[in-house]
Amino acid sequence: MQTFQLAGATINICQNKEKLAEKLATHFVDLAKASIEADGRFTVALSGGSTPKALYSLLATDEYAKQIAWDKVFFFWGDERCVPHDSPDSNYRMVNEALLTKVPIPKANTFTTEGQEKNPEEAAKQYEQKLKEFFQLGANKYPAFDLVLLGLGPEGHTASMFPGSVALTEPQRIFMTVYVEKLSAFRLTLTLNAINAAKNVCFMVAGEDKADILSTIISQTARTSENKLPAACIQPSAGHLEWFIDRAASMKLGLDILHTTIEA
Ligand code: 6PG
Repeated sequence: MQTFQLAGATINICQNKEKLAEKLATHFVDLAKASIEADGRFTVALSGGSTPKALYSLLATDEYAKQIAWDKVFFFWGDERCVPHDSPDSNYRMVNEALLTKVPIPKANTFTTEGQEKNPEEAAKQYEQKLKEFFQLGANKYPAFDLVLLGLGPEGHTASMFPGSVALTEPQRIFMTVYVEKLSAFRLTLTLNAINAAKNVCFMVAGEDKADILSTIISQTARTSENKLPAACIQPSAGHLEWFIDRAASMKLGLDILHTTIEA
């Protein structure tokens, strides 16, 4: 594995998707231990998508699960589709099948959205209130998740913030509903400000089909270009950003980027 620093972020390039999941699972365990030791809990905003599913399945194996004090772990969803929890498209269902049903995390420690299939805006408001109560937030404050897990979509979206999303410029909301033209569907998502308030943000990006978009995103983060794509806007104000990438997805990272990182 190779590790570089770029624009304040750590970039881990792993041999393949399996090694990527192992590296991030180890990082997850390390963050959990440190957060629980420091604060008595580990708060995580989970990502949807197929890439994170490999991580969740690995965390459910005995090798990793036995290292985690699950009663001190608290799961939230960084975004959710506006479908019932038993829908094949549900991020909750994916996490539940890959992880929640296999580890001893108390049900009270998993905070799911409710009613998004019927009334997205009401579901977003209710979830936002859950976040405010759990993190004991005052007005205009954001939750400082110990970890936010993110994936990268083919056009540069992350969580459910697609290019041009109102969640990118929302000045107050923590969690909101957005209409995604590309999908002709509503989604629920953490806002950019909420994600950038996290202590740790980790992207998982695998596969050669992500090589072009990843190169664009990384170069945007390394430069002060305007009109950045959503994933390039993820720059935690005080927290740490880490990329977990497999070699296939890294193949278009320009040498100038790598030289920058080597010199940094
Ligand atoms: C979702 C995710 C989304 C995902 C990316 C990458 O609900 O779909 O939150 O942001 O992470 O689309 O998905 P893959 O890992 O499946 O490519």
